[in-house]
Amino acid sequence: MTPEQIKLVQDSWEKVVPISETAAELFYGKLFELDPSVRSMFKGDMKEQGRKLMAILNTAVNALTKLDTIVPAVQDMGRRHVDYGVKDEHYDTVGEALIWTLGAGLKDDFTEETKDAWVAVYTLVANTMKEAAAEAA
Ligand code: HEM
Repeated sequence: MTPEQIKLVQDSWEKVVPISETAAELFYGKLFELDPSVRSMFKGDMKEQGRKLMAILNTAVNALTKLDTIVPAVQDMGRRHVDYGVKDEHYDTVGEALIWTLGAGLKDDFTEETKDAWVAVYTLVANTMKEAAAEAA
């Protein structure tokens, strides 16, 4: 990621933080619309799940200039996701739901450049999770 992309992601994330509860609701609504079969994989309270998702995204966004510091935690997360029944192909659907949610939340601020920057972040995190999952198998 370029320094410009990091700034686009960090600046746009600041606008999502105040609406993070709504964003999480939008995200899971979209995810379950795109793939109703994943709904049953979530066993806990969805409000709490939404908080966990926003917290890890917040950590990742704040660590973009020092990504090596969060790689081990992201790898652990990837390995835990194997136990939740998550397969590689699910990452595409989750990515689509995330990008859609950011667009819905940020509206005109979600420019093409900002979108590309977010796709780069998501791809990095998802690939790190998938690689750790594959190695664990
Ligand atoms: C970049 C991608 C992802 C991130 C950042 C993420 C984040 C998280 C976090 C923080 C948790 C809380 C528990 C933990 O840390 O292990 C979690 C749990 C979970 N995630 Fe993900 N996740 C991602 C991808 C996915 C994908 C692709 C799926 C597939 C549908 C998925 C399904 C689940 C499920 C089923 C749980 C457990 C829910 C429960 O315990 O009821 N996640 N995720």
